[in-house]
Amino acid sequence: MLSIEKYQEEFVAYLKKYSTLKEPKNLYEPIQYILGLGGKRLRPVLTLMATEVFNSDYKKALDAALSIEVFHNFSLVHDDIMDDAPLRRGQETVHEKWDINTGILSGDAMLIMAYQLFENYDAGTFQSLAKLFSKTAIQVCEGQQYDVDFETRNDVTVPEYLKMIEYKTAVLVGAAMKMGAIVANASESDQNNIYEFGRNLGIAFQLQDDYLDAFGNPETFGKQVGGDIIENKKTYLYIKALEFSASEDRMKLRDLFNTIPEDNAAKIDTVKQIFDASGASNATREEIKSYTNKAFLVLESLAISEEKKALLYSFGNALMNRNV
Ligand code: IPE
Ligand code: IPE
Ligand code: MG
Ligand code: MG
Ligand code: MG
Repeated sequence: MLSIEKYQEEFVAYLKKYSTLKEPKNLYEPIQYILGLGGKRLRPVLTLMATEVFNSDYKKALDAALSIEVFHNFSLVHDDIMDDAPLRRGQETVHEKWDINTGILSGDAMLIMAYQLFENYDAGTFQSLAKLFSKTAIQVCEGQQYDVDFETRNDVTVPEYLKMIEYKTAVLVGAAMKMGAIVANASESDQNNIYEFGRNLGIAFQLQDDYLDAFGNPETFGKQVGGDIIENKKTYLYIKALEFSASEDRMKLRDLFNTIPEDNAAKIDTVKQIFDASGASNATREEIKSYTNKAFLVLESLAISEEKKALLYSFGNALMNRNV
């Protein structure tokens, strides 16, 4: 197996060859823009790694990895419209740089391009990949709808939140890994185990994303810090802060999430103080660890070499300690 950095390099080189500018420019320029903005490339790296974990050559999985990354970037373009987000990877979001209609159509094209990449596989592999992809993509839409629905609800529970992040984020991480296993012709139980590893890691990943959205460093985070608070997102931080706070803070928090504030900066400040003081911040960090450990437990059930396990462990630990 290669190092994580090397998989990343190989993937980015492949992406560069794929991403060419076609007509009409107003459709393809935003696609090239978002795909070229960088990002951690963690999903495609997981696809390539999974292929090699199951004893096949990562090069065979490059199109599946690309499909996953193109889909992920499509979902970000539409997500940034839905979340009214100004910044992505330290630059303007597509709908800010162009406009909302451009973001919608370029996003649509990317979703189709993601599907198209499966045409590079033989019929059996194509069918397995397309089937997994369709199921996953529909779940992502369901998760995104829950996320938006929860903005105007005051009674979102932890199980509801966990289902929402499983769907909007974690299933794609699971699918990224399972696609690698499919390309490698791994057994069904190996495919399912690696999916479970990815799914649990994905839940930890979204919990961490929510944590960083509030507590990340604005200089390096690349997104608008406090964006989830502005949008009244019902995150683990919020739900736990309501649960843990005394009645005064609980009322303050509810109120801040139910009225249009005069000053977003003041709202963000107050909400973050309550997240910290209530113990919700700590509880979130614990939950991130707990889901990462669940992922590691699944690893134990895989009949792969210790060296391969170690690489997957280090990937999981790196995710947990990230700050972007
Ligand atoms: C952002 O994903 C969207 C979430 C599911 C949290 P990433 O944090 O992987 O975004 P990039 O691709 O690295 O920018
Ligand atoms: C995004 O969740 C999940 C998908 C894009 C499907 P977020 O809305 O938290 O992602 P960021 O924080 O904008 O990257
Ligand atoms: Mg968003
Ligand atoms: Mg969102
Ligand atoms: Mg987020």
